[in-house]
Amino acid sequence: MKIKKLSKVIINQIAAGEVITRPACVVRELMQNAIDAEATQITVEVWHDDETILKIRIRDNGSGIDKDQMELAFLKHTTSKIAQFEDIFSIKTLGFRGEALSSIASISEVTAISSTNKSGAGIKLVLRGSDKIKSEAVPAQQGFMITVSDLFFNTPVRTKFLKKLTGEKIAIKEEVVKHILATDGIDINYIVYNNDHEISRLNAPAIYGLQDKIFSLFKRQDLAGNLIKVSATAQGYHFNGYLTNQRCRMANRKTQFFFIGKRVVESPIFYKTLDRAYAHILPSRRYPMAFIRLSFEGQRVDVNVHPTKKEIRFQNTSDFSTAFYSVVHQIVFKNILSKQKSELHLPDANVEELSATSRKSKFSKPGQVFSEQPSAENTPPFQWAHLENESTTASNHPADLKANDKEHIANNTTSTPAATSNHAVSAAAPMSAAVSSIENSQASSGDVLRTPAKVRPANLRVVAQVAKCYIVFILNEELYIVDQHAAHERINYNKIMTELDKKKLDRVALIVPLFYERSVTDTDKIIAHKQTLDKLGVSVDLFSKTVVSVSEVPQFIPEHKLEILISELLDVVIEHVALERSDFYRETIARMACRMSVMAGDSLTLVEMENLILSLYERGALLTCPHGRPFVKKIDAGELAKFFDRTRHLT
Ligand SMILES: Nc1ncnc2c1ncn2[C@@H]1O[C@H](COP(=O)(O)OP(=O)(O)OP(=O)(O)O)[C@@H](O)[C@H]1O
Ligand SMILES: [Mg+2]
Repeated sequence: MKIKKLSKVIINQIAAGEVITRPACVVRELMQNAIDAEATQITVEVWHDDETILKIRIRDNGSGIDKDQMELAFLKHTTSKIAQFEDIFSIKTLGFRGEALSSIASISEVTAISSTNKSGAGIKLVLRGSDKIKSEAVPAQQGFMITVSDLFFNTPVRTKFLKKLTGEKIAIKEEVVKHILATDGIDINYIVYNNDHEISRLNAPAIYGLQDKIFSLFKRQDLAGNLIKVSATAQGYHFNGYLTNQRCRMANRKTQFFFIGKRVVESPIFYKTLDRAYAHILPSRRYPMAFIRLSFEGQRVDVNVHPTKKEIRFQNTSDFSTAFYSVVHQIVFKNILSKQKSELHLPDANVEELSATSRKSKFSKPGQVFSEQPSAENTPPFQWAHLENESTTASNHPADLKANDKEHIANNTTSTPAATSNHAVSAAAPMSAAVSSIENSQASSGDVLRTPAKVRPANLRVVAQVAKCYIVFILNEELYIVDQHAAHERINYNKIMTELDKKKLDRVALIVPLFYERSVTDTDKIIAHKQTLDKLGVSVDLFSKTVVSVSEVPQFIPEHKLEILISELLDVVIEHVALERSDFYRETIARMACRMSVMAGDSLTLVEMENLILSLYERGALLTCPHGRPFVKKIDAGELAKFFDRTRHLT
């Protein structure tokens, strides 16, 4: 085969494929240009019909491009932002590669109008597939306005990789949201039109600080009171922004944002370090919200890793990870402790120093003491037996999906994730009214922590809670350490399984339904699983395009966890539409069990600890939590003897 030199147009089209893969990339690049041009006002407009994005326009009041430079700006590798290679290490602007405008112009029709001063004189340039169609003087306001239409008209293959309209719109909105969060002092407007009718508008005024933006963009009920301010320096890295504590958690990472300067950055190190720092306070696959702005002196990262410039590489990854971990760990735990302190009305005492027994826990009931049971002389040894085959249990479950549900799952595998801002929960019903009918029916399904055990082995002694996470107890002269969350989770898991195995699941009708807001795609997914949810005791209906109502719930959910648990259950449905049905049930039930359980970090009274341990004992406990983690460590006399070298020295 003969070797030929590629034409400029083809080279550009290939290069464009790296930078512009979907309409959202156009929005990203053009917003970044406007930010670099020091605009204080940016308006992003998107037009679509019922199927596809038709046109994108970005207007700014920044420096504008000089009329003599307009055509140059649309050529490949033309930039005003760097002059030599070294500059990219100290780059302050978002762009520097000089390829965004040329890439966009090579695969679309572009109309750009620019003016560099307030005289009202401007220039208009029209290009199609990089070819100049028109260049003329026009009246214009200071700044730059660019309209992009017919995207991918000459690279039709690319359109095949695009998601459905909703998916592309979500991706565009995410770009806008990210840049709103990344910048300060810019009035950003985002307007969407369907066939020329305005259908939505988002405005972030220039005066909004990061916290105002978070509250206005993510209208989650549980944000209030659970947002923690971050302002700390470690190893020369300055961290500023916000995190959520363990009470405001998400089902995915879509609300974890990191910024260096005005750049939105992604690096696995951010996510991994956050996971590590929250490992003890959040169950697996639950994520905090994070809005972290990172700054430092000198050159510590390389931003030239990928054409989209959102990936970065740290020169010293472990240094950064240690710094970030220590900051997050300290801040989050300080928040948890101070919250507990105020909730428990402990004005001066150091929460850490109080013993577990002296603390009033939110679980304890006044006057509740451990009821003395006749001592069981022949107490059976504490066996961690009855290991259950989870997959069998789940797949044999009566609430299996029907074949057409399966079909629906298959069809949904390419559907798009939920819009970040649509992820809000708004349970409008006042809980006291909503659950009043539950109160009288809880007796049979009360939390094990509050339920005195029926049998108490004489030689059981609960000793203490350690690190608000583990329960230490002695049984038959053997020492046991139990992970409180995992153990409680296992008990709840079994309890739910037993309830669901009943012929008729006990349900409670809510006087006032609970309402949950999700994106249109997600409410569709939820309603598609109406039958499945019904078998779990949850009766769900479509209230409006973006709101579902829940009118019946299973009785086994404790009242105080109801609202959040149902919210999580809906998230599991949204996340798991593509999973095999057995996985779906196992995951759903495991999540519910997890949510109903005491967490690491919750202090327990001695009575609650005893109730928990006895409940494990009564039920013939299992070795692992429903997520597969072990939850008990036994240290027997033999192990102690070995450790203390008593096997050889018998005195
Ligand atoms: N909105 C704008 N206002 C003023 N000047 C602009 C604007 N957009 C682009 N420019 C000018 O056009 C040049 C080319 O823009 P382009 O986006 O192609 O490259 P870049 O921003 O320099 O680098 P990158 O490819 O990394 O984005 C910029 O360097 C800048 O001088
Ligand atoms: Mg650019």
